[in-house]
This record gives sequence, structure tokens and C-alpha cells, in this order.
Amino acid sequence: MSASPSIAPSDAPSAAQDFQVRSLAGTFAAEVVGLDLTKPLSDDDFKRVHRAHLDHHVLVFRDQQITPAQQVAFSRRFGPLQIHVQRKFQLAGQPEVLIVSNIKEKGEPIGLGDAGAFWHSDLSYKERPSLGSLLHAQILPAEGGDTLFADQHAAYEALPETLKATVSSLSAEHSYLAKYEELRARSPWRPALTQAQLDEVRPVVHPVVRTHPETGRKALFVSEHFTTRIVGLPEDEGQALLAQLFAHSTQPAFTYRHEWKPGDMVFWDNRSVLHLAAGTPDHLPRKLYRTTIEGDQPL
Ligand code: SIN
Repeated sequence: MSASPSIAPSDAPSAAQDFQVRSLAGTFAAEVVGLDLTKPLSDDDFKRVHRAHLDHHVLVFRDQQITPAQQVAFSRRFGPLQIHVQRKFQLAGQPEVLIVSNIKEKGEPIGLGDAGAFWHSDLSYKERPSLGSLLHAQILPAEGGDTLFADQHAAYEALPETLKATVSSLSAEHSYLAKYEELRARSPWRPALTQAQLDEVRPVVHPVVRTHPETGRKALFVSEHFTTRIVGLPEDEGQALLAQLFAHSTQPAFTYRHEWKPGDMVFWDNRSVLHLAAGTPDHLPRKLYRTTIEGDQPL
């Protein structure tokens, strides 16, 4: 197992905070109540949060009145941050923050409006996909706008033994371009990618079953958004297997549905879960700020 994220201690000792981690009933996710992320975390508090993140895969920090700079600072305690290939939706002055929003100003989208339209693990199309992502609610719609998470350890563990053995020796290709034209057809504001952007998102190959670098647990690591083919299998056989795995891995039994509340900051582990934006009515504004932490090369 690789080392845990660099738990860089803050310069000055910070006071411990009185907070609770509570399982969200009947799900793998947990809420963190009473922790103020605007304050630097003591090393002990950081360790508790880190442990809870590994155990629950999705943490919901309630009531966070946090600035983008503070979100960036907290995210960085887990590792270096990744800049999304869609530079157009970086927050001004804070390039590590990606704006996820359906809002248009003067006819122009202010954020990536269709982020999460298909199940995925963030940046799985990179050599080093994301360790985890943090999404902080800025403007929430009166209805809709939920985010779904699916536990890929549970999905792997529930596979029949023969299928587990089969998929454990396979690798698959992941590509940012897999659904890009389909998304452009739905959202014409999506720009054609420049050659420099295309070079940034060349397809990569990852194991179909990855081992979590910190817990050692196995998880399925394929998704309908970015996984294009199984390496070494005939195309029709590979596509049939992928379709079977996509359907299996996102069954309701493995999912948690997050209904956003004002001030929520949700931090998920991309090595353990897939996620999906469940959809927002077009006329209801929704805006969230995302930071994305770099992880290990999947093994
Ligand atoms: C994402 O996939 O990062 C966005 C999820 C959401 O908007 O709910």
C-alpha cells in the first residue's frame, strides 16, 4: 500500500474542534457536523477526517461558510490539486476551482453545466486519476440537483466469483473524448478541444479492478462516461462485459443519493465511488465549486 496523503501539518498548532462523524442512515456515506473548515485543522482533527473519508468514501460537511481559497487550502492537505482541461470554467483568481453550474449570463454558461451527466470517477482518463473531489454548494435549485454516489468496493464484492476472477486480470481504456461529441450535441456551448487540450487527455489504460492505495480494498474501476473498451478482448465481447459492469456497479443497492442543503461541502473518494449528477430543471439555477485532488496511478 502506498503512503497516505501528505498530511502536512499547519505552521502553528491549531485547536481541536468538537465535531461528530455520523453515518447517514442505511448508506456508506457520513455527515460531519460541528467542524468549521474555515479554521486550520489540528493534526488530530485532520487524521479523524482522513480516517472517516477512507471508511465512508463520501463525507458531507454541513454548514460550511467557506471561501474558495479556504476550500483550496483544505483540499491541498490531501494532495496536489488538478486543473480541469476546461479552463474556461475556472473561477477567476482561483484556477484550482472548477465552476459547476447551469447558469447563463448574457447567454454564456458560467460553469460546466453538464458535469456528471454520466456515471464516472473524476479524471479517470488521466494517468493519475483523482484521489477525491470536493463540491461546495453556492446556489441550489428548489428542486432536483441531487448527486448520486455508488460504492465500487461493494459492487466488486457482490460480483459472482467467476466474474470477479475474470475481471481481476483485465485492463480497460479510459478517454475524456468517449462521450464528448454526445455532450456537445446536447450542450453546444462545449468548445471543440484545441490540440493542446487533446494532448492533455490522451487515452490511458487502467486495471478494471483497482486496489485502494490506502485501505487495500478492491474496487471496480470502469464507468459509462470514460471507459471505452477492454484491452485484449474482441470489441463486441468487451462492450457486452462493460455494459454488464456498468449496470451492476450503479444498482440502487450500492448507491447514496445526496440531497444538497445550503452550506454543504461534499468530499468523495474517487478510488472508491462513482458519481452522477441526477439532473436539474433548466430554469432553476444551480452553482457549486469543485476542487479535485490528484491520486495515484491505479494498480
Ligand atoms: C461532478 O461530476 O463533478 C458534478 C456532480 C454534480 O454536479 O452533482
